[in-house]
Amino acid sequence: MTKSGKKVISVIGLGVVGLTTAVGFALRGHRVIGIDIDPQKVRQINEKICPIYEEGLGKAIKNVEIIATTDHGQALDSDISFLCGGTPPKADGSIDLFYLEEPAKQLAEVLRMKKSYHLVVIRSTVVPGITEKVIIPILENSGEVGICINPEFLREGTALEDFVAPRRIVIGENDRRAGDILCNLYEGFGCPILRTDFKTAEMIKQASNAFLATRISFINEIGNTCKELGIDVYEVAKGMGYDERIGSEYLRAGIGFGGFCLPKDLTALVAKAKEVGSTPRILEEVLHLNREQPLRMLELLKRHIPSLKGKVIGILGLAFKPGTDDVRKTKAIDIVEALLDEGAQIKVYDPRAMPNFKKLFDNKIEYTSSDGVLTADAVLILTEWDEFNNLDYRNKIIIDGRRILKAKEARIYEGICW
Ligand code: UDX
Repeated sequence: MTKSGKKVISVIGLGVVGLTTAVGFALRGHRVIGIDIDPQKVRQINEKICPIYEEGLGKAIKNVEIIATTDHGQALDSDISFLCGGTPPKADGSIDLFYLEEPAKQLAEVLRMKKSYHLVVIRSTVVPGITEKVIIPILENSGEVGICINPEFLREGTALEDFVAPRRIVIGENDRRAGDILCNLYEGFGCPILRTDFKTAEMIKQASNAFLATRISFINEIGNTCKELGIDVYEVAKGMGYDERIGSEYLRAGIGFGGFCLPKDLTALVAKAKEVGSTPRILEEVLHLNREQPLRMLELLKRHIPSLKGKVIGILGLAFKPGTDDVRKTKAIDIVEALLDEGAQIKVYDPRAMPNFKKLFDNKIEYTSSDGVLTADAVLILTEWDEFNNLDYRNKIIIDGRRILKAKEARIYEGICW
């Protein structure tokens, strides 16, 4: 603890979640040590350069003092360690715990040397049971250690905003002392704090993401029907949203949900449900709908260009959503693969995500400007970047997967669900 009563916090794993947690606590005056195995990332953070594209973080990192290091031993100087490693999916959909388990083992080694109490907080998203079955055994011989799970609800693009002004904080605990310390750390965040056991906290996170995904597949299904009936699903969603029991968020119909979290958390929950003998019918159907939805873009395109062989198709937007350069599980991948299978030539543009997309498709497609894309025989809009509202779409064939209103001026305009 520092003289002012602030804590010394170590954050292990400096991806979007870890770095946001580190910057967020540093902004609140705590001393923060950031630990990551990637020396380049560590150097950048020490030079106050944000290693990921995340607008709020990029600005905030310049105003805080974070000591970044590759040395897990530095955690010894802290009172609390947050484990923030990613939990990607394995081939069977279940979660890969490597980036949580390995740092936990290294931390366990370090904490054996500590003489005083230390709190370890799991921030990574895990399925129910992991803290008890995997993390506790790793840490149980490491001296006086308390454990909490504190799931994150941070959206990429607005991660720091979500950290600073959360809608709720969930703390999973199995002893009062550990829970009290974490609860005090979050004092003054101005939102409800829910304290539960480990499994419940883990399930709150999984069920939250599953529900958001369900809303998206639900509105996409309604939207697909609306389109055939000549109804605007965005008007429908607005009308539904006024009912507080329903709410207006996560009802934007489109090409489906991508990104690192929603898809993999849902598959992990489905795998877990099956493992315990439950039948996750709704969740499986949500995933199924989400696989099919982007392919509607090709069906709509073929209403106007029946054979895509040799045709030049432009794509505006590759990131899984605006405000990020992240292309993990972006629906643009499915759509580009399907277009290549049909023999189309593809030109793409994204204001941020082209370097990451190049790593996936390299020279199979052409990377150009928005004007370059608009020379194509038809253009698909896959991410709702603001700047796409400033383009000239007249005389074009546009298939819109994300509701860019300006594109309605096109000679031929098809919205995916409207
Ligand atoms: C998500 C959760 O929102 C966050 O709480 C969690 O901790 C991490 O995972 P994120 O992956 O950043 O955050 O993406 P989010 O903003 O939730 O969007 C996910 C996908 O759903 C995007 O592809 C987005 O375009 C799509 N989406 C979202 C819709 O298609 N319609 C909507 O109404 C909302």
